[in-house]
Amino acid sequence: MTTVTARAHTNIALIKYWGKRDAAQMLPATSSVSMTLADFYTDTTVTFLADQAADTFTLDGHPQPVPAKVTAVLTEIRRLAGWSRSAQVRSVNHVPTAAGLASSASAYAALALAGSRAAGLALSPQALSRLARHGSGSAARSIFGGLAIWHRGSGDSDSVAEPLPMPNLALRMIVVVVSAAAKIISSTQAMANTAATSPFYPAWVATNEAAAQQMVAALAASDFPRIGHLTEQSSMQMHATMLAADPAFTYFQPATLRVWQLVQELRAAGVPAYATMDAGPNVKILTLAAHVDAIVAKLTPEFGQQLRVTGPGPAATVLEERP
Ligand code: DP6
Repeated sequence: MTTVTARAHTNIALIKYWGKRDAAQMLPATSSVSMTLADFYTDTTVTFLADQAADTFTLDGHPQPVPAKVTAVLTEIRRLAGWSRSAQVRSVNHVPTAAGLASSASAYAALALAGSRAAGLALSPQALSRLARHGSGSAARSIFGGLAIWHRGSGDSDSVAEPLPMPNLALRMIVVVVSAAAKIISSTQAMANTAATSPFYPAWVATNEAAAQQMVAALAASDFPRIGHLTEQSSMQMHATMLAADPAFTYFQPATLRVWQLVQELRAAGVPAYATMDAGPNVKILTLAAHVDAIVAKLTPEFGQQLRVTGPGPAATVLEERP
C-alpha cells in the first residue's frame, strides 16, 4: 500500500469565516479570505491498510482517539476511492505549542492531500479544497499558498477556495502570543452558538460577504490601508457577534485589548499595522516588511518574548510517496 506524507501550512483569515449555513455539508455562511503562513505547518502521513479493523491516529507521536473530523475526511476519501480500507494517520504539528495558533487548517489540508494520494486519487486543487473543508472549514484555504478566497458557493461542489493574485506588497504578520492555553470553547461550537443566538449575526453575515468582495478589490489594487482596515473590521465584527450571543462570551483577555491599543497607537503615529484575532486571545498584526521593526520595538517592552514574525507561505505539497 502506498504511504504518503504531505505538508500544509496554516492560514490566518483577513476576512473571517464564522458560521455555517449547512453543518452537515460544511457550507459557510459567507466567503472568507486568508493568508497562508510560511512558518507554521502540519506534516501528515497516511497509509490505507486492507487488514486493519479500524482507523488509527497519532498526533506528535502519541496515539489518540480518532477525531470525528478526521473520520469525516477519511470517509469521503473512501467514498471517492470506492473502497473500505482503514487508514493509519500520523500527524506532526510544526506550530510551536507556545504560539497557540489554530492548527486545524493545516491539519485537515495535509490530511486531505496525503489521504487522497495514498488512496490513489489525483484530485485537482479545487477538489482537495472541498475535501479539506469536510474536516474543517478553514482548511479549505490551506490547500493554497499566498492568499486565498474560500467562496461561499451554491453547494458542496463549488464551496471551495482558490488562490488570489499576490498584491504588489511585502505582507507580513506578527503573531503576539497572549496565551498558549487551550481554547475555552472550540470554534465549531462557538460559531454554532453565535449563529443560533446572536441578534447581530444576520448583520455580520451581510456585512462580511460584502467585505470579502471588497477585500478582493483592495488586494487587486495593492491598497494596503484598505486591506488592513477591512481585516481589522472583519475580526472585530466577528467578535462583536459573540458578545451579543446568549450566553455572551469573548475570547479576548486583558492583554488582547492591550495589544490592540498598541496597534491603534502605532497607526496614529503613521505606522500601518492592523490587528486580527481568531477563536483565542492571541493577536496577529498585519503589516508590511518595512514596518516590522517599528512594530516589534513598540511591542517588545510588554510582549518581547511572545512575538513571531512571518509572511506568506506555500501551497500544500506532497513530501514523500513510498510504495
Ligand atoms: C475564527 O475552521 O476551526 O479561525 O469549520 O468548525 O472546523 P470548523 O471551524 P474552523 O473555524 C475557523 C474560525 C476562525 C476564522 C477563520 O479562520 O476564518
